[in-house]
Amino acid sequence: MSARFEGRVAIVTGAGQGIGRATALRLAAEGARVVVAEIVAEKADATVAAVEAAGGIALAVPTDVSREESIAAMVATTMATYGRLDVLHNNAAVQTAGDDDLVGLDHEMFMRRMEVNVGGTMLGCKHAVPAMRASGGGAIVNMASVSGLLGFDRNAAYGSSKAAIIGLTRYVATMYGADGIRCVAVAPGLVMTESIQEFPELRLAQYRAERVLPWAASLEEIAGLVAFLASDEGRSITGQTIVIDSGTSTHRPRHAMATWEAMLASDEADPMG
Ligand SMILES: NC(=O)c1ccc[n+]([C@@H]2O[C@H](COP(=O)([O-])OP(=O)(O)OC[C@H]3O[C@@H](n4cnc5c(N)ncnc54)[C@H](O)[C@@H]3O)[C@@H](O)[C@H]2O)c1
Repeated sequence: MSARFEGRVAIVTGAGQGIGRATALRLAAEGARVVVAEIVAEKADATVAAVEAAGGIALAVPTDVSREESIAAMVATTMATYGRLDVLHNNAAVQTAGDDDLVGLDHEMFMRRMEVNVGGTMLGCKHAVPAMRASGGGAIVNMASVSGLLGFDRNAAYGSSKAAIIGLTRYVATMYGADGIRCVAVAPGLVMTESIQEFPELRLAQYRAERVLPWAASLEEIAGLVAFLASDEGRSITGQTIVIDSGTSTHRPRHAMATWEAMLASDEADPMG
């Protein structure tokens, strides 16, 4: 693999599993020294072990992105250990469990999504910018979702938090572009990570029906997009949210309804399968 990140240093938050882990592995495979910032220390250690097993360099820094002192320590440890910061992937999030009907939504649950997803992303940007300035520039890749672009019959807390991240991305890009600091977001559709495996099969079949392509993006594809945006190949892209959703957000609802009805009518295609 090419070494687009040779000599560079990256922080990936929530890198203990799923997309964050895949991104940490990808950036390290391309030469970056990677700080694995994760709230569960054992998961951070496991990702570091996986990076090292693949011949890469990584450091576990247990981090709670919702606490400013923890984010400040994450960046300070990175600078003390590796002397620079080139890439921050703000990936950690609280996802959709329990985030159903708005009328029944607990205010605390709503605010926790705001605190971790939006607040954590804001704090990451706040503390990364001075370190990136000292490094001569950098790239921040925030994790949004198609849930931040479209309405849905549930997940108002999660979706609103992702919409706020899309807005924040534009502001950070505008404020620090002159410093050579870029800020972009990626917005995946459903990706089959550990936390999604628990979704009921009926719901997964509905997600499948919403896609235009007959496949979902893999974790490695999302990691590949993050790496492209963070690399010099993405050097003129900033403030944008790049959607990677197999066409979920490209069409009118009728497309999904027709696909769903065809699945139900077909003898061969089991909508539950
Ligand atoms: N999986 C999907 O379908 C999908 C789709 C669109 C967007 N996303 C977004 O991609 C990102 C990663 O998704 P995933 O499915 O890999 O997530 P995941 O839930 O599998 O993993 C998230 C990781 O973040 C860690 N984490 C949680 N709170 C934290 C905190 N306060 N501080 C530090 N770490 C914390 C968790 O321990 C976990 O290791 C999230 O931002 C998610 O919203 C996921």
